[in-house]
Amino acid sequence: MDDFRFYAPTYFCFGRDSEKNTGELVARFGGHKVLIHYGGGSIKRNGVYGRVIASLEAAAIPYLELGGVLPNPRSGLVYQGIELCRREGIDFVLAVGGGSAIDSAKAIAAGVPYEGDFWDFYANGTPVTQALPMGTVLTIAAAGSEGSPDTVITQEQGMYKRGATGEALRPKFSILNPESTMTLPPFQTACGITDMMAHVCERYFTNTTQVETTDRLCEAVLKAIIEEAPKTIADPADYQARANIMWAGMVAHNNIVGVGRQQDWNSHRIEHELSALYDVAHGAGLSVIMPAWMKHVMRHDVQRFAQFAVRVWGCDMDFAQPERTALEGIARFRAFLTSIGMPATFEQLGARAQDIPAMTEHLFTAEKEPLPGFMQLYRPDVEAILRLALA
Ligand code: NZQ
Ligand code: ZN
Repeated sequence: MDDFRFYAPTYFCFGRDSEKNTGELVARFGGHKVLIHYGGGSIKRNGVYGRVIASLEAAAIPYLELGGVLPNPRSGLVYQGIELCRREGIDFVLAVGGGSAIDSAKAIAAGVPYEGDFWDFYANGTPVTQALPMGTVLTIAAAGSEGSPDTVITQEQGMYKRGATGEALRPKFSILNPESTMTLPPFQTACGITDMMAHVCERYFTNTTQVETTDRLCEAVLKAIIEEAPKTIADPADYQARANIMWAGMVAHNNIVGVGRQQDWNSHRIEHELSALYDVAHGAGLSVIMPAWMKHVMRHDVQRFAQFAVRVWGCDMDFAQPERTALEGIARFRAFLTSIGMPATFEQLGARAQDIPAMTEHLFTAEKEPLPGFMQLYRPDVEAILRLALA
């Protein structure tokens, strides 16, 4: 196991009606004037917005609003939000929605006290050390941004989808009401499930040895998701299943399952090219890329893939030919994603084979070759993974 520092101070308020604590929590974490940041209006249709406003008003906390965050959030609205916060003396950013609203809120929070262009943090990887405090009211179990120090934004100049990070970006609090996720269409629920599974897998496939505690945590979270996810698809109002999936999304990405080990993240890097080019849902892109990545890199450590197959997917170990076990695990993972309604191929995603060379080039205009991780990836590897995703 590698040495590590882990500090994840987000305060979680979980359960039915938990939005009623919004005002009290904003005050507790030093907010006097709030920017409420949200997406395309789902929060107004499902009542979450009304409950949040009522709570802020009960706590006598003034607020302004900036809605319109798109899935795969764009830089334009971030610039607007920074300007609005500065002009209005906002001292707390409250994201109400999913990973996109949260990530856009984090970008605004980072940009307000920064003299340069907020995009610098995304372009050059400088950690964010100063930001306005922010909190979240989560409405979709997916990205894990409610407990992570990360944000992902698409820069409209060139359509680069990139991440930034920094401990200053961990939400001060996150409110998680599983009931508010019941209005999600099954496709979005499944995208979220795929994303959280990917977050665990990006940590599980490592070259660091003797990481049994985090290996077992990863396996447990994946097994819980495999058990609970189909229930949320079959019955969107199954509270207990929604609750388990909502917490799994947080646990999958606040890094408790990733500390002490080298991580990968190349499926995410490759998927970001798909969401930047075709504006597909992040989870749907991952559903196509992850199994393809697995097939391509499996040879790098067949035993680890066989372990994944046996411990997570219940495959029988073939000691004579461990690669058969490894392949069976990948096949079961892919079949599971299909069973919850996720695409399996480029075509089902709406992606085009002829774009593969350009996508690979675009990735390497901002990333150094080779991509680091479980197995280093050069241009031909990325192209091969994208081609494996065709079928
Ligand atoms: O915009 P609204 O109207 O709110 O609709 C959203 C959106 O269309 C809808 N939705 C959310 N909650 C709902 C709901 N519809 C009905 N009922 C509800 N309760 O769902 C759609 C997707 O929302 P979005 O916020 O985009 O989803 P998600 O949480 O999957 O976020 C995706 C973004 O997060 C980034 C992704 O790259 C992507 O841009 N990620 C961020 C990470 C982080 N910050 O740590 C890590 C992840 O790897 C991920 O990359
Ligand atoms: Zn993700």
